[in-house]
Amino acid sequence: MKVYLDNGATTRLDPRVLAKMRPYLTEKYGNASAINYLGQAAYLDLMEAKKRVAKLLGGEPAGVIFTSGATEANNLIIKGVALANQAKRKKIIISNIEHPCVRESANELARAGFQVEFVPANSEGLVTPEALRKIIDKETILVSVMAVNNEIGTINDIAALAKIAHQYGAYFHTDAAQAIPYLKIDIKKMGIDLLSLSGHKFYGPKGVGVAYIKKGIKVKPLMVGGGQENNLRSGTYNLPGIMGLTFALELAYKERAAYLKRVKALRDYFWQRINQEISGLKINGSMTKRIPANLNVQFTSIEGEAILMDLSHKGICVSTGSACSAANLQASHVLTAIGLSKNLLNSNIRFSFGRFNTKAEINYTIKALKETVKRLRSFSPIK
Ligand SMILES: Cc1ncc(COP(=O)(O)O)c(C=O)c1O
Repeated sequence: MKVYLDNGATTRLDPRVLAKMRPYLTEKYGNASAINYLGQAAYLDLMEAKKRVAKLLGGEPAGVIFTSGATEANNLIIKGVALANQAKRKKIIISNIEHPCVRESANELARAGFQVEFVPANSEGLVTPEALRKIIDKETILVSVMAVNNEIGTINDIAALAKIAHQYGAYFHTDAAQAIPYLKIDIKKMGIDLLSLSGHKFYGPKGVGVAYIKKGIKVKPLMVGGGQENNLRSGTYNLPGIMGLTFALELAYKERAAYLKRVKALRDYFWQRINQEISGLKINGSMTKRIPANLNVQFTSIEGEAILMDLSHKGICVSTGSACSAANLQASHVLTAIGLSKNLLNSNIRFSFGRFNTKAEINYTIKALKETVKRLRSFSPIK
């Protein structure tokens, strides 16, 4: 059996989304910047897509900038806002559990002379308003805190954090790449000024994302050239991707309640069984303020990598921490931030459940995992 429990790394394209994308790869292939009839048809669809995305997110169509994904959106927003507003202020705040594309963007700014400060997450993996209040001041240009953490699935109180940023005259950005379809993001209600999304995290295509930029915020572009996206992001519009992302986002909002119920039932069943049938397990991060698709489990006395490889040989895909850092064998900065001791930092597996998982797959995984853990523990030098 093949089981995919790595939906936090990426999701399978929903066949309904593929069907909506196909015409844009075949008949409707015009360049949305061209003034011939195919180009103009593409342009109209692009404008429609912006309206549809803005409506779902509770923002304005003009704020929707399509990018190649959340990495690009985060780079554009963090660096672009800092560079365009540096005459006034010099301080940037990000949390210490951000995705590397946010952290490295901030590190680049630090090397360029900006003051970068890290708001720490607590032991539950949450960034609290109190922690932000301790380090924010009137020098702060931008506060960036992720809506949902990619490794442990914890959910931050974005509205409360945004409110504090605004009290100090700073902009608030959230990397919401892991938030859809789990949270009902509403830009206006939550007080979000800037937001990043990625299509492939919610059953849409890879290589397309959104940088939402509220009207009036100055941003220095990363990409210059043809002047697309109101000069904020040059490059030919990826219309198949954009139409796919838009439809995938609509499905996520429309089917949200049933989806959440389904993944929660699978995850809770999985956890209840493995916790009963395998000794020495613990969950990393808050279990209440957490998306229902994520389970990050500590396995005492075994290396996470060994579990991952063993399960992979049995046809099961999981990950240790985030897939994005799999090539880099450093201990997870998220697990370090929430205070795991050194000997526990490499004993974790992230199981992330999704739309296409079945109960039969979960039962197969439980059986395989029990065998894997038993075998690995039998010759583990760590007791
Ligand atoms: C929280 C978070 N931000 C950003 C990204 C990067 O997104 P993309 O793959 O669209 O560049 C990811 C992907 O893993 C993520 O989980």
